[in-house]
Amino acid sequence: MSIAAVIGLGTMGAGIAAVLARSGMTVRGFDVSAGAIEATRRKLPSISGVLDDLGVPARGSASDIVLTDALEDAVAGADLVIENVPEEIGLKRAVLAEVAGLVSGSCVLASDTSGIPISRLQEGLPSPERVVGMHWSNPPHIIPVVEVVAGHGTSAATVDWMMATVRRLNLIPVRVKRDVPGFVENRILYAVMREALDLVERGVVDAEDLDTCVSWGIGYKLSVVGPMSLLDMAGLDIYGSVASYLNRDLCSRDDVSPWAEEKIASGRLGLKTGEGIYAYHQDEAASLGAARARRLVAVRRALDASGEGGP
Ligand SMILES: NC(=O)c1ccc[n+]([C@@H]2O[C@H](COP(=O)([O-])OP(=O)(O)OC[C@H]3O[C@@H](n4cnc5c(N)ncnc54)[C@H](O)[C@@H]3O)[C@@H](O)[C@H]2O)c1
Repeated sequence: MSIAAVIGLGTMGAGIAAVLARSGMTVRGFDVSAGAIEATRRKLPSISGVLDDLGVPARGSASDIVLTDALEDAVAGADLVIENVPEEIGLKRAVLAEVAGLVSGSCVLASDTSGIPISRLQEGLPSPERVVGMHWSNPPHIIPVVEVVAGHGTSAATVDWMMATVRRLNLIPVRVKRDVPGFVENRILYAVMREALDLVERGVVDAEDLDTCVSWGIGYKLSVVGPMSLLDMAGLDIYGSVASYLNRDLCSRDDVSPWAEEKIASGRLGLKTGEGIYAYHQDEAASLGAARARRLVAVRRALDASGEGGP
């Protein structure tokens, strides 16, 4: 049975650890924060409930995950280490270097970075060929796609191993062929976010109406028909006509939206601070998270049940 270690147990760590354990791997989780370890312990039972609802085969249990505040215990004998520490290149490089000094020559070091090129993370490590991007989506126990990203130094064998491992986890791997910042998913998402923020900021539409428009319009459709298929569905001639005037008018700013910047500066960060784009009641974060998980599970079950393959 293979051994996996999850380093960093914040937003992403618990769900990733639970998926790995469910597939039958021996799993250990490590964090520098005792609070994060405790929060993970509390979250694991409900995450297992969601995996039950999704019908994910149970070859192992999240209750067997060992959570520790000792890095060397977490990574001892590991075949796979996934780092999930905050998105700071210096921190990630330091963590990967420390882990590399503790594991065997065959251990794969994966990073869940949202978009730092893997080539930059593997620089200076003793075995860059074993370093690979494994980019999950939040919530990681519900969204089935994982981007697999090779840096300049990653070997083809490591990429193949990771693609096979993601499939064994009951997830859908997507091979990203070039190590571009943001990979694929976040490049698309951030293009959407830039336009969405600009439309609300300019008063073209209210925030709630924008969410309704995207979720029930393109969002709903895209979960069944991906953008490339959508181009064929609409007709490339129609796309060409619209894009010829619309592309010029789309938001192309290369800084962060001032509206978002102002909220960040005043500490209005969203759910975690009680206010962001919207205002939230105390304790709403937990109930919203559970309600969103239920809806995501329902949609995924419906798509799976249609039996007609992915987008
Ligand atoms: N949140 C998302 O939606 C999302 C989605 C996909 C990928 N990611 C990526 O996953 C990574 C983690 O994101 P997150 O949202 O879980 O962050 P987070 O801030 O919620 O959690 C990070 C955790 O890492 C811990 N940590 C800090 N330094 C550490 C160290 N030296 N060793 C071990 N643990 C340490 C922190 O205590 C914290 O618990 C980032 O690279 C992020 O870009 C996030």
